[in-house]
Amino acid sequence: MLQEPVIVVKNLNHYFGAGNLRKQVLFDINLDIKPGEIVIMTGPSGAGKTTLLTLMGGLRSAQEGSLKILGQEICGASKQQLTQLRCQIGYIFQAHNLLTFLTAKQNVRMSLELHDKLLQDLDAQAITRLEAVGLGDRTDYYPENLSGKLRLAACG
Ligand SMILES: Nc1ncnc2c1ncn2[C@@H]1O[C@H](COP(=O)(O)OP(=O)(O)O)[C@@H](O)[C@H]1O
Ligand SMILES: [Mg+2]
Repeated sequence: MLQEPVIVVKNLNHYFGAGNLRKQVLFDINLDIKPGEIVIMTGPSGAGKTTLLTLMGGLRSAQEGSLKILGQEICGASKQQLTQLRCQIGYIFQAHNLLTFLTAKQNVRMSLELHDKLLQDLDAQAITRLEAVGLGDRTDYYPENLSGKLRLAACG
């Protein structure tokens, strides 16, 4: 079955800095990603992988070319549009999406609350998710003492 791509990148360029310090880091990127497709992006440090991923995740605004996520153009999108788009995207960071001052259970609970305010029994649901990733016995530990499994549980 032919499926529309969920991500369409066309002639995308990206620059950091301004004036004399302006430096191009993405050069004419073109790619389509279809639903369910698994893509592995490789390249040396500094090649622009993180920059491209943050653009695709709606975490920074695209400057030049076209980047469509779920049919929505990110290039020139407003902050509000990017915020709305981020509600439709799952994104597992290498680090930094957990709050260090909350326990594992509190972190997962917060993510559940953000996704669906009407959910009942958030503590029990948070524990179920932690159990699913093998952290059932660590629900009251703080993130610094846990592995990436916690990020998975908190990503819903
Ligand atoms: N916030 C930033 N400000 C200025 N330059 C940046 C910034 N982020 C990344 N860069 C530069 O952009 C280039 C690509 O970086 P990055 O996307 O992090 O590459 P990768 O993830 O492939 O290692 C590098 O030259 C890096 O120094
Ligand atoms: Mg990187």
